[in-house]
Amino acid sequence: MPTDHFAGSNAITYDADHAERFTAHAVEPTVDFLADLAGGRPALEFAIGTGRIALPLQSRGIDVDGMDFSSAMIEQLRAKPGSDSITTQVGDMATVDMGRTYGLVYLVFNTIGNLMTQEAQVACFRNAARHLDAGGHFVIECNVPNLRSLTPGSHGRVFDSNDEHVGVDHYTDLVEQQAVSRHFHFDGGPDAPRVGLNSVRYGETPFRFVWPSEIDLMAQLAGMTLAGRWADWDRAEFTGESTAHVSVWRTD
Ligand SMILES: C[S@@+](CC[C@H](N)C(=O)[O-])C[C@H]1O[C@@H](n2cnc3c(N)ncnc32)[C@H](O)[C@@H]1O
Repeated sequence: MPTDHFAGSNAITYDADHAERFTAHAVEPTVDFLADLAGGRPALEFAIGTGRIALPLQSRGIDVDGMDFSSAMIEQLRAKPGSDSITTQVGDMATVDMGRTYGLVYLVFNTIGNLMTQEAQVACFRNAARHLDAGGHFVIECNVPNLRSLTPGSHGRVFDSNDEHVGVDHYTDLVEQQAVSRHFHFDGGPDAPRVGLNSVRYGETPFRFVWPSEIDLMAQLAGMTLAGRWADWDRAEFTGESTAHVSVWRTD
């Protein structure tokens, strides 16, 4: 069984810790893209979290259901206006059964990586396909593994550093594609002391990093065909320099 890394206080601070992901600048292109693809058909979010995308997508008139492994995250979603009409289930996205199908299934914010084995990631693709109507779409948003920016001999890379937060990705096992994101939050703001047990809040999220080509093979195993890949939600061209991808597969 996967571990719930979003239990307890991590769920309570999730929205504040990812404030930039909740801005209109981040959310609107995602919702535009997904609403367009849904084309009025119902949608399912794998790993819905606190509803960052599901709530605004629903307010565009799309019927959205969601599932998540963390009941603490779903509890945060439930406290928000508009969540009453979202049907949710607690479960693992590799195995959950919503008991119905959708025109769109989507999994954003690198969350495919939260499944720590290739087997579980393949199972997730198969489960997405099982939940899709014929001609339905599965969408993933994920970073491209950033091994190229590691200096020789190093296994860590700082991906964020400011007055509130320092984030470091450690690539812990290059054979099994294992890594961990380590987060140091300075809740007291820029003037708070940077040392001492109470001044720094620490959190970590392990992940299995995965290349777009490997993900395409997972989709193929699940009977889906690549319909498009872009570098972001505004459909910028995906190239060898892209640091992230938004990928869409289609069922027959
Ligand atoms: C980075 S958050 C993303 C939440 C939301 N999709 C968003 O974009 O804000 C990752 C979410 O994935 C959930 N998660 C992790 N592993 C999961 C699994 N195996 N099945 C379902 N949800 C999972 C976590 O509980 C958490 O809510």
